[in-house]
Amino acid sequence: MAAPTPLVIDCDPGIDDAVGLALALASPEVDLLAVTTVAGNAPLELTTANALRLLRAFGREDIPVAAGADRALVRIAVHNLQPPHGQNGLGGVDLPVGTRPAAKDHAVELLARVLSEAAPRSVTIAAIGPLTNIALLLALHPELAERIDRLVIMGGSTTRGNITPVAEFNIWTDPEAAQRVLAGSGLDVCLVGLDVTRRATLDEPDLATLRTASTRGGLLADMIDGYGDHGPAGWPLHDALAIAAVVDPTLIETRGATIEVDTGVGVARGQTVCFFEPPKGKGVILGIPAPDVAPALRPRAQVAVEVDAARFRELLLARIG
Ligand code: RIB
Ligand code: CA
Repeated sequence: MAAPTPLVIDCDPGIDDAVGLALALASPEVDLLAVTTVAGNAPLELTTANALRLLRAFGREDIPVAAGADRALVRIAVHNLQPPHGQNGLGGVDLPVGTRPAAKDHAVELLARVLSEAAPRSVTIAAIGPLTNIALLLALHPELAERIDRLVIMGGSTTRGNITPVAEFNIWTDPEAAQRVLAGSGLDVCLVGLDVTRRATLDEPDLATLRTASTRGGLLADMIDGYGDHGPAGWPLHDALAIAAVVDPTLIETRGATIEVDTGVGVARGQTVCFFEPPKGKGVILGIPAPDVAPALRPRAQVAVEVDAARFRELLLARIG
């Protein structure tokens, strides 16, 4: 097996964040170097405490945690929905408090330290919450972008949203940060959006499998059971698919695209508009002749358009069960 991929997860735990963390820790393909937290599913203090609790529950308190942004860059997003992750952010599951405190550094400084000690294009960052910390990292330490191999983001949608009819929650929470990262970073970005994560579900029988498999599996099953985001096919584990796409990139199929985020204050705020690369050869990117696309508009991101949901489920149950 090739050397494990150095990985940092920026998250807002969050139930599907918790499943993604568990998957990363159970996968020899990745080496989780650090966890950074951001406000999103819950206020920063709670997402950070939850990250510490989860690493204790998973027996990995050796992994440093640093808290990042407690709000979006420009406008604080407010909604009146019941929090789908429950009042404690983990579906009501009460985990023992972490025995180690979060690092004193801001998340951006911990990210910068990990990157400054890394070889060029060696670290994968998985961003599974709002992109505020990542935008700040790129703004404060632009020289470290070249240490990032891939930026895998759970976010966006090329069809309908989940927090508004057109916007996905992570992007909607901080659209300005998303625009800075998706349209202005020059990084190799892989956007794992609702188009595929809605199909990355576990159902009741899967939870039963988790419960019988391990203590960790039982904890996660109890959290998922308390997850307000579910439908006929079960619970969509958005963040876990983004992490799975780091562990096994063949689980998803992607297409090149240039992405623009609506950073206005109208009804479409937070929408990700994907200008897909034309099929091989000729074609246009929505009115821009492909051969003449200005370099700045050349596809910068790979957008996930298909997922092997069965193989995702198999990987998840095998690894965290
Ligand atoms: O839209 C899904 C995303 O929003 C996931 O990251 C989930 O944890 C919530 O943060
Ligand atoms: Ca999340």
